[in-house]
Amino acid sequence: IRMYKLAPSILAADFWRLGEYVKAAEEAGADYLHIDVMDGAFVPSISFGAPVMKSLRKESKLIFDVHLMVEEPIRYLEDFKEAGADIITVHTEACKHLHRTVSRIKELGLKAGVSLNPSTPLTELEYIYQDIDMVLIMSVNPGFGGQSFIPLALDKIKSLKEVITQKQLNIDIEVDGGINLVNVAEVLEAGANVIVAGTAVFSGDIKENVAAFKSTFTRV
Ligand code: DX5
Ligand code: ZN
Repeated sequence: IRMYKLAPSILAADFWRLGEYVKAAEEAGADYLHIDVMDGAFVPSISFGAPVMKSLRKESKLIFDVHLMVEEPIRYLEDFKEAGADIITVHTEACKHLHRTVSRIKELGLKAGVSLNPSTPLTELEYIYQDIDMVLIMSVNPGFGGQSFIPLALDKIKSLKEVITQKQLNIDIEVDGGINLVNVAEVLEAGANVIVAGTAVFSGDIKENVAAFKSTFTRV
């Protein structure tokens, strides 16, 4: 049995009833709340920003896992810290100065993650491994919920797991995009230990979905 953390993505929630959705996921045993922030520049769509997250922070004790799909996220780190972030993940492709950005996240006392788009090679991480707590492997092109899982991501997860083991690093492997109850086992077997799921958690019965994800790992 390998433990993993489930991070439901509120991008797939009904925003009219956002609080209820978050509460349902929390009560069902979700570990993180995955918060997808999109700026309409780094990715095509615009989602929501720090003020929305701040409202959720008042009512939820979940670990807030903030995925910044924005250009030059260094501009917004304080805002998200202020709004209650626990983990902030930035994209290598969106940062002119990745090391400076990651250092600033750490200076704010938060956990730092770095994300790679599907076509971005792992070698981008070579000189940043020592400074980060998590790598987020995108298994879809960021920008929208409800897309299909790109199978090549499995090879990337396996290679990353090897690097982390070989370098003896303490880094989480989070995977995001198109994960459902059918393919989650493969993703876990490849080496992931944090699973993001939007559509698969928030469509239908949230509690049943979270419970089903949670029971999948016992069979892995
Ligand atoms: C994609 C987002 C993902 C996505 C996950 O841009 O970063 O977090 O919303 O949603 P599903 O699980 O529906 O692919
Ligand atoms: Zn995400």
